[in-house]
Amino acid sequence: MPEAKISPSMLSCDFANLGVEAKRMTKNGADWLHLDVMDGHFVPNITLGAPIIAALRPHTEAYFDCHMMVSNPLQWIDDVAKAGGQMYTFHIEATEDPLAVIRAIHAAGMQAGVAVKPKTPVEAVMGQIAEEVDMILIMTVEPGFGGQRFMAECMPKVEALRRAYPGLDIEVDGGLSMETIDASADAGANVIVAGTGIFKAEKPSEVISTFREKVNT
Ligand code: DX5
Ligand code: ZN
Repeated sequence: MPEAKISPSMLSCDFANLGVEAKRMTKNGADWLHLDVMDGHFVPNITLGAPIIAALRPHTEAYFDCHMMVSNPLQWIDDVAKAGGQMYTFHIEATEDPLAVIRAIHAAGMQAGVAVKPKTPVEAVMGQIAEEVDMILIMTVEPGFGGQRFMAECMPKVEALRRAYPGLDIEVDGGLSMETIDASADAGANVIVAGTGIFKAEKPSEVISTFREKVNT
């Protein structure tokens, strides 16, 4: 299994101090920063887009893990690449031609991820898609909001992916905490996103290092 990467979701940060919050997370041991882009159409919420990603870029060297909860994933590829996004994870439910999206992401110089909502079967991304992407994100809540309950029923999807693709980065997102990390790590996830679980913790560094240990052992 690839090494752990811990990716705090900036959705739970103080947005008025985005740059400071990003630095705080890397100081606490974060490997990546998870940036949740929502368009108010694919999900019933609006968050941030390429201009905010570009504004944050000079404040941190952290790897930008962009989770694109948007109805038209092709539309934002160039903007996010120019803004400094490094992973562009689109939803399989949002496109009829995922291979074209993956190839456009790679052509723009980013890594490509594909995300799977809780009710979407994992078979939707197995085969050619899994072979072309750099990461698969298994959602463990319905996308749209932070602070929801972790859906352990999504773990068989992580297990099936890990069995089929031992070297693939597999990300989990939604409801990750000290209580739910074991189920995720045991199933084979190695990229851990957490908003509430990290930002609301008294000692984010302890949460991040515990997540890392659980994945790597
Ligand atoms: C939800 C987002 C998540 C969210 C996770 O749609 O994709 O990244 O911020 O938040 P927590 O960790 O609070 O469930
Ligand atoms: Zn997310």
